[in-house]
Amino acid sequence: MNKLTVAVCGATGAVGREMLKTLNERNFPATEVIAYASSRSAGSQVEFGDKQLTVRELKEDSFEGVDIAIFSAGGATSTKFSPFAAHAGCVVVDNSAAWRMDDRCPLVVPEVNPEDLAWHNGIIANPNCSTIQMLVALKPIYDAVGIKRIVVSTYQAVSGTGQKGIAELEKQVRDLFNGRDIEHNAYPYQIAFNLLPHIDIFLENDYTKEEMKMVNETRKMFHDDKIGVTATCVRVPVFYGHGESVNIETERKMTAKECRMLLSQAPGVRVLDNPRELLYPMPLACAGQDDTLVGRIREDETIENGLNMWICADNIRKGAALNAVQIAEELVRRDLLGVRNKNVFMD
Ligand code: A2P
Repeated sequence: MNKLTVAVCGATGAVGREMLKTLNERNFPATEVIAYASSRSAGSQVEFGDKQLTVRELKEDSFEGVDIAIFSAGGATSTKFSPFAAHAGCVVVDNSAAWRMDDRCPLVVPEVNPEDLAWHNGIIANPNCSTIQMLVALKPIYDAVGIKRIVVSTYQAVSGTGQKGIAELEKQVRDLFNGRDIEHNAYPYQIAFNLLPHIDIFLENDYTKEEMKMVNETRKMFHDDKIGVTATCVRVPVFYGHGESVNIETERKMTAKECRMLLSQAPGVRVLDNPRELLYPMPLACAGQDDTLVGRIREDETIENGLNMWICADNIRKGAALNAVQIAEELVRRDLLGVRNKNVFMD
């Protein structure tokens, strides 16, 4: 593998820090790693293995000589800067929602649709964390027996909101135990000891944007406009690790036993499913892990071909940083670096 220059944009954030950790742990073949963030944190230090990187301000001309830029700096920053990266010949892997549904950009989970990387134009989108873990678990089932419909309820950790979500839950818990008044900024209500059936903004159809991301991103990555997906996304007072209760209706019958067998061989999946031994996935068990954990696999007794399952994954790791780094690895493995038409996004 060639030695590469990699930029992490949003390096001071919850996901950016995990990206640096993941690049280091997986020995990504980089000769140089550059940490970018806003002017607010320029000059501060972030960890990269046993080194400290000095954070630089992200600018339009930050991409000269950079092979891959991994972004986790929010949609507005990505919308503004990614086109300049592609124009400079640098391939962007973006963790925000800015480019996910753009027809010019592949949306990729390496275990699900790595072949879509072949048609990139310089910007590749990392899906929403909840969609990633759901599809890692469902893709083998989709390939084996077809899936007509997915009904999902999520239980999403506060780290999905970034550092401000983590800080808010921590402070509210401390304030509550010390008899102080509770403040909230990251969320519209107290999150400590509460559940908020509200992630991202509400849309015209009364679903939230987060819920519709699960619908639209699933269709895009499965290349299936007909698959029915309906979601309810809930923020829970957990720091790391999203849980999902997933009910699927398959085209052909798959028993729970067959499903366990299939998923136990699936890439990126670990089956934890032995109710008698109280073995099932939990956020505390998936935090810091690469695998998507699947358990509570049962046949839905109300329909002919249906399954229920419970899926947990570390939203910061597989749901964001790891998936982005795996995309970068796949680009290197498939020799897909470099941007053929550098002006596609300069409109
Ligand atoms: P900064 O620390 O300088 O604000 P999180 O989602 O955990 O809050 O992290 C968001 C990340 O995105 C941070 O690293 C933040 O940097 C970065 N960021 C936000 N706005 C910009 C911007 N305009 N340019 C570059 N990085 C940005």
